[in-house]
Amino acid sequence: MGKLQDKVAVITGGVSGIGAATARLFASEGAKLVLVDMNEEKGTVIEEELKSQGSEAIFVKADVTSEEEVNNIFETTLSTFGKVDVLFNNAGIGAVKPTEELTYAEWRKTVEVDLDGVFLVAQAAIKEFLKAGSGVIVNTASMYGWVGSPGSAAYNAAKGGVVNLTRSLGLEYAERNIRINALCPGFIETPILGDTDREFLTNATPMKRLGKPEEMAKAVLFMASDDSSFMTGNSLVVDGGYTAQ
Ligand SMILES: NC(=O)c1ccc[n+]([C@@H]2O[C@H](COP(=O)([O-])OP(=O)(O)OC[C@H]3O[C@@H](n4cnc5c(N)ncnc54)[C@H](O)[C@@H]3O)[C@@H](O)[C@H]2O)c1
Repeated sequence: MGKLQDKVAVITGGVSGIGAATARLFASEGAKLVLVDMNEEKGTVIEEELKSQGSEAIFVKADVTSEEEVNNIFETTLSTFGKVDVLFNNAGIGAVKPTEELTYAEWRKTVEVDLDGVFLVAQAAIKEFLKAGSGVIVNTASMYGWVGSPGSAAYNAAKGGVVNLTRSLGLEYAERNIRINALCPGFIETPILGDTDREFLTNATPMKRLGKPEEMAKAVLFMASDDSSFMTGNSLVVDGGYTAQ
């Protein structure tokens, strides 16, 4: 029996990188999946991949910054699978630019997706979890929620917000059987890195390599399953040693 046998898991940003690796691992552990993303093309491909391997999976196109589209995620999940047990709240965008060149619109966009989006989807899930009497959320923050770095003020502020949002929500629902934790990845080889110099990122990491999405998925599975049954309001930093420096 899988660690998520017959659980229904919603994964935002679930068609690429860390989200897609987690979808594959969750499916192998018996979960039914709702993959949420704005990228319909990738969504259709991974939905078909999981179905062809015998898993139950649907793709829902949604922008996590739209309240209406976020509500639709949970309406579709309930009408398709009848319940929701797990949210991996993972959609995000990167942003690297010197602060003196950053426009307010760019700041707002980053914070809107990386912090407001996490709040909106968490809130919608919590409403369902309260009705059901239980639930688990894993938010994706970043090691940059713990330490600063030059050139990504908006991203780092948003991710720091996710870390403390996670603490606050964890405390708020601790007595109501809803556990809420965060994943804080280091540099992971996914499309979000774009053309960032891989050698620079590798050298900055004590283990002298980038992390793999599959290594993040294992940490997410820990926090999403009963293996972490006494953990809430906290973060798991998986960064090849970066924040230990
Ligand atoms: N890769 C890294 O080095 C790294 C490090 C720390 C944190 N993270 C975080 O991990 C998460 C996953 O990123 P990834 O590395 O897998 O990158 P990725 O680009 O492969 O995946 C991110 C996904 O989020 C989706 N997305 C973006 N904005 C969205 C929106 N408004 N609504 C719905 N979907 C949206 C994208 O379409 C994409 O599929 C992000 O929150 C990111 O900030 C990544």
